[in-house]
Amino acid sequence: MDFILTETEFNKDNIAWNGNRFLIGNGYFGIRGTLEEYTKKQMCAVNMAGIYDRVRDSWRESVNAPNPIYTYVKVNGQAYTLPDEKPKFHQQELDFRYGIHCRVTRWKTEHGDITVICERFASIARQHNIAMKYTFSADFDCEAEIITGIDGDVWDINGPHFVKMQMGSKDGIDYVTGITGEKNISVTAKECIRTDFQAEQTNQNTDKSIFRHIRFTAKANKEYAFEKIAEITTSVDDFGTNGRIDELSYRELKDEHKAEWDKIWDISHIHIDGDDEAEYALNYSIYHLNCIAPRNMKGKSIPARGLSGQVYKGAVFWDTEMFMIDYYIHTAPEVAKTLLQYRIDTLDGARTKAKGYGLDGAYYAWESQEGGYEGCSDYNVTDVFTNRPMRTHFRDKQYHVSAAIVYGLMKYINATGDYDILNEGAMEMVIECAKFYRSLLLKKADKPYYEIHDAVGPDEYHERVNNNAYTNRMAKFVFDTALELSDKCPIDSNLKEMLRDSSENILIKEPDTSGIIEQFDGYFKLEDASLNTVRSRVINPKEYWGGAYGVAADTQVIKQADVVAMLSMFKNDYTSDIMAKNLKYYEPRTEHGSSLSACMYSLLACYTDNPEIAYPMFMKSAKADLTKGGKEWAGSIYIGGTHPASAGGAWIAAVKGFAGVIEENGQLVCRPNLPEKWNGMSFKLMYKGRLYSVEIQNGNGTISTI
Ligand code: BGC
Repeated sequence: MDFILTETEFNKDNIAWNGNRFLIGNGYFGIRGTLEEYTKKQMCAVNMAGIYDRVRDSWRESVNAPNPIYTYVKVNGQAYTLPDEKPKFHQQELDFRYGIHCRVTRWKTEHGDITVICERFASIARQHNIAMKYTFSADFDCEAEIITGIDGDVWDINGPHFVKMQMGSKDGIDYVTGITGEKNISVTAKECIRTDFQAEQTNQNTDKSIFRHIRFTAKANKEYAFEKIAEITTSVDDFGTNGRIDELSYRELKDEHKAEWDKIWDISHIHIDGDDEAEYALNYSIYHLNCIAPRNMKGKSIPARGLSGQVYKGAVFWDTEMFMIDYYIHTAPEVAKTLLQYRIDTLDGARTKAKGYGLDGAYYAWESQEGGYEGCSDYNVTDVFTNRPMRTHFRDKQYHVSAAIVYGLMKYINATGDYDILNEGAMEMVIECAKFYRSLLLKKADKPYYEIHDAVGPDEYHERVNNNAYTNRMAKFVFDTALELSDKCPIDSNLKEMLRDSSENILIKEPDTSGIIEQFDGYFKLEDASLNTVRSRVINPKEYWGGAYGVAADTQVIKQADVVAMLSMFKNDYTSDIMAKNLKYYEPRTEHGSSLSACMYSLLACYTDNPEIAYPMFMKSAKADLTKGGKEWAGSIYIGGTHPASAGGAWIAAVKGFAGVIEENGQLVCRPNLPEKWNGMSFKLMYKGRLYSVEIQNGNGTISTI
């Protein structure tokens, strides 16, 4: 099946969305799917992984590199650029089998038509490099000028991050270096070009950028092409460059790039027999996960919006360990280990955060940046009515983040058998997380159990709640994990006793008489308004539904999977009947206001033998970046971008849900539960160092080693 995403007309309202869905990347950086002539006005970005900067007291965020693909054309002195000049024909395309972006644009001029074709990719074989091929033609003789160079005037949300810019040219290679203000990190873009025609070339510098002006007389119907090879480096790179850019050719780079993608797809492709739309969307999700995987990198993780920009501060959330890591564990375990290494390396940051709140152990950052720095502020949403920052409790009360990391670690260990990681810092991390949850436990004078008060669960619309079922269960999971692992890495006997006491006595919410688990103390007493009623109370489409006065806060309407997430994670603790009842209760009360939500419902629906209920939720997750109109605002803050957690969640729903590949007694088993229109599925999977092939036909699944 073709892995091509195409847009065949130009619509300026799609610029931001296209920037996300046409993204290319290689884990080291992501290049938004913007056009070559775009600037910061159209949210152009070469977004760097793991590099952050803070300007004065605004939010710290990831840094965008100087943009080396900037290019446009002038004909007889007039510039032809989108979105300003309406095209006669326009097509934008992403070949997501190979991460190759291509645009073709034709403009009608007073003398005839001109056409620009540009193909580009972020090399996945040499992660410092970008390659681009730009072709110009006209159906009349004309004086043409191509302006191409490095645009250092980058798009920033809370910038400018480069306080110093340096630029120059040497031996045909142009460069622009930006130096960040906070940590003095340099980010350099270099480029060189190779034309296949005679032209006069001059250079022009501005205070941030460097451009080449290539002037030539173009003959009618002749193609004029140039290749550009670019390189991005920083002063804090984990790995070096590979080859001088003036010695690399577009063809060679493209061949090796495609060969590398072939290797990646060989293990990550999922075939769905009977449903092309689902197969397309799922593999498109997998493409995004592959574009942002930190390959060759040391202790790096993935931001919630991938490498699509500075939204959410380029920070790493629980999204990685809860939704994305499963895919890497089973297709590229070394990437999963890198993600966990990031958490091990940032343990000190988590300790500092815990201490700051008078707590013990490790409280991981809600929005984690380098070193575990907490990027989340106490005022993380702006009230659209007053334009004032709103006090939110994501930073101080979303205690469940540390447990998600331990959960991710255990998924990794169980599926790889890599217990060595425990001695490489992971055991210390688990113990510190366990101490953190222990320090949250409270006991009332007349109650025999421990409670956790004043928390925010996954459903962010209800803040400062007591005994969030999910948080308490996850805390127990962390205590149990530390105890279980103490067989491999012995721990102090007093601590062991403390953890046992915590695990045995923490309040775990049981289903009520109708089988429903209350999300937190008092949830059932909240107004049971329907989603539509709550929606009808919204005055401004951008207003925030949670917080102290949000429209959902005093109702049972929740933002995302909470109890449902817990049930799907601990499915062996509950009967199918309880799971199904809770799914039925919570689904109509869920806004799915987070892209992390639908996949959890899909998974639980599969676990309760309801693949038809699971299917639309799965599609919602798999198509999060293909569907226009996703949530782009939280208050007045732009939150658009790609949704890798949703992509990872779609993978989980497909593999663990529909295909029913789960681990039982240290082995993989396959108990498929496919939606009616799927005839079968086939894919590969890594498990404990071996590669398996999974084939599902006629309702039966087989797993065999390769
Ligand atoms: C969700 C969080 C999520 C974050 C980043 C928020 O809208 O509520 O659960 O971690 O987005 O994806």
